Amino acid sequence: MANGWEVDAEEEPRISHGERLFNLLLILLGSALLIAFSCHLLFPYVTPDSFSSEKEECDLFSGKWIQDASGPAYSNTSCSFISYPQDCLTNGRPDTGYLYWRWKPYDCNLSLMDARKFLNIMRNKSLAFIGDSICRNQMESLLCLLSKVEEALLVYHDENFQSKTWYLPSHNVTLGLIWAPFLIKSTEDSSKNDIQLYLDVLDDTWTSQYQKYNYIVLSGGQWFLKETIFWENNTVVGCHYCTGKSLRELGMDYSYRRALRLVFHFMNMSEHKPLIVLRTWTPSHFEYGQGNSEGVCNRRKPYREREYTADPADAIMRTVEVEEFQEGLKNGLRLVLLDTYHLALLRPDGHPGPYREFHPDISKKLQNDCLHWCLPGPIDTWNELLMTILMSEEELKSTLCTNWMIVPL
Ligand SMILES: *[C@@H]1O[C@H](CO)[C@@H](O)[C@H](O)[C@H]1NC(C)=O
Ligand SMILES: *[C@@H]1O[C@H](CO)[C@@H](O)[C@H](O)[C@H]1NC(C)=O
Ligand SMILES: *[C@@H]1O[C@H](CO)[C@@H](O)[C@H](O)[C@H]1NC(C)=O
Ligand SMILES: *[C@@H]1O[C@H](CO)[C@@H](O)[C@H](O)[C@H]1NC(C)=O
Ligand SMILES: *[C@@H]1O[C@H](CO)[C@@H](O)[C@H](O)[C@H]1NC(C)=O
Ligand SMILES: *[C@@H]1O[C@H](CO)[C@@H](O)[C@H](O)[C@H]1NC(C)=O
Repeated sequence: MANGWEVDAEEEPRISHGERLFNLLLILLGSALLIAFSCHLLFPYVTPDSFSSEKEECDLFSGKWIQDASGPAYSNTSCSFISYPQDCLTNGRPDTGYLYWRWKPYDCNLSLMDARKFLNIMRNKSLAFIGDSICRNQMESLLCLLSKVEEALLVYHDENFQSKTWYLPSHNVTLGLIWAPFLIKSTEDSSKNDIQLYLDVLDDTWTSQYQKYNYIVLSGGQWFLKETIFWENNTVVGCHYCTGKSLRELGMDYSYRRALRLVFHFMNMSEHKPLIVLRTWTPSHFEYGQGNSEGVCNRRKPYREREYTADPADAIMRTVEVEEFQEGLKNGLRLVLLDTYHLALLRPDGHPGPYREFHPDISKKLQNDCLHWCLPGPIDTWNELLMTILMSEEELKSTLCTNWMIVPL
């Protein structure tokens, strides 16, 4: 090392001005790369938690619903992305009070959705939602919120219109909706209505596209409540909700936990490191009966804190998510929790109920939907929270890293 420097020093007189400038540039470039590299090591990812602890302490998910006269950012008339079973306005839901509430975190104000700013920050990027029909519900809300600035173009759909891709050309943003209700491999036996669930095999509908996305939102869970037969290593190992089958009942939390673990393991092993957002459990609000066939949801305002205790099944599934999320963090995944569980729990008034159909005859006994959310409705808040998370992530990354890289050069 010392020799090397001496040789350089001896030869120095022969170095021209041009070469000296070139060497200086090399050193500067080297240090810029080093800084960029260490920036990457120091901040391989940035969580909103680390962001808010530096700026202001605010738990976005701890708060209350407050009345807000300004109302939703879009309507059934201004947005064309609303699936008709969630289009409560068009379907004739008479009360509109559920549209005039805003989520207020105790320690800060949640900014309203700024679609223009969001799309500018997302320029050249891609975001995928992976999950079930609640996931689609959330994606349609996002498309509506963004449509005020740019209408998304549908550029791909699968045979059943379950997986779709939209493109927003002015901002070069790609939004993917990937149908993978279990995240792991499953097959429905149409003759028996049994679902075979492979606990050790991922659903390649999403893994095959994983590389394409900068951001991934996992937004599912509900299908684990269904009657399912569990397979592992090509052998049946148990089931959930399969009375009369002489199989071991392992529980819905067993399969959900196994699925999340397998997903996080895959992401941990993959070279590609998108930011992963895990959206927590969406509670249903059926009352006066269990499930779609009997229950109804006819409340007209949010619950107050502690007015309502969750269904134990909802609480169990949310616990699974939080525990597996913590495990994922320990393994160094770029993971963020979009913890909408509690704020969704307080909104029994936000579901279509009988207005899943066009002008239902409510004098008759009808099937109610107390699981999905009216659009516009409380699920718009999930996206406001998602955008707050993604925007603080991007802003922090750019102030901490990009600026450092530019200064020395
Ligand atoms: C939107 O809903 C209103 C009722 O709130 C209805 O009168 C109107 O026809 C709907 N618009 C569309 C485009 O369906
Ligand atoms: C939230 O906004 C209200 C007015 O809109 C303001 O009075 C209040 O100080 C804000 N709170 C915080 C924590 O920023
Ligand atoms: C769009 O973004 C991708 C990166 O996601 C980039 O490769 C491509 O060049 C961009 N296209 C335009 C037209 O800006
Ligand atoms: C987006 O991509 C285009 C084309 O590759 C590039 O010119 C532009 O600077 C990129 N914008 C951002 C914000 O990355
Ligand atoms: C899977 O099953 C095969 C036999 O069917 C067995 O040889 C193998 O050890 C099993 N693998 C695991 C991981 O249990
Ligand atoms: C995740 O990856 C790290 C190394 O990148 C490894 O140490 C850890 O064991 C992995 N964890 C799992 C659960 O795969």
